[in-house]
Amino acid sequence: MTEFTTRPEDDASVDPDLLSDPQRRFWVASACAVGGAAGVATAVPFVGSFAPSDKARAAGAPVEVDVSGLKAGELRTVEWRGKPIWVLRRSSAQVEDLKSLDNKLADPQSDRPGYTPDFAKNEHRSRDPDVFVAVGICTHLGCSPTPELAAGPGPGLPPDWKGGFFCPCHGSYFDLAGRVYKNVPAPDNLEVPPYVVSADGSTVTVGIEDEDQA
Ligand code: FES
Repeated sequence: MTEFTTRPEDDASVDPDLLSDPQRRFWVASACAVGGAAGVATAVPFVGSFAPSDKARAAGAPVEVDVSGLKAGELRTVEWRGKPIWVLRRSSAQVEDLKSLDNKLADPQSDRPGYTPDFAKNEHRSRDPDVFVAVGICTHLGCSPTPELAAGPGPGLPPDWKGGFFCPCHGSYFDLAGRVYKNVPAPDNLEVPPYVVSADGSTVTVGIEDEDQA
């Protein structure tokens, strides 16, 4: 598990103005991460090769991610419109476990407006059950949660943890569909961005909702 020894707001070297901007705060929070950061970098690579040019990215161009080699339980991070976007290949067991968590979650059906597009309002909160796509920014104050994908107890995690994401800034938990647990600071599920999956399932394109836009 990645250990955050310094929260951004507790780090005297961090300009407070940076923390008021959620997107900039993400990068600040990432820079504050130490300890297991190298391990996470290995397990959760930032896929720079999939990113468009700086000019296209600045304009908010769609970002295509090759998921053909993504194994079950693997997560990749790309950047879209200055935000970290997670693309996770869930195993069939992980998808099945989602059904058992509803009574622990604040908004299990993703009924609240603003964070879940219509295409993802289903039990797995995605287009394809096995491929989950979300904006990796906590809905509380904008830190970047840590992927804790493996099931089982761990430091700071609930004893019956089924895998998900943990925000170390103030202790919020999200399941492997980005659904927020009850009684944590984060008020909403993680945002699902617009995206499409190619017909053969080999690519995910973030930033469009219709293949015709590709
Ligand atoms: S920013 Fe994630 S819990 Fe506060």
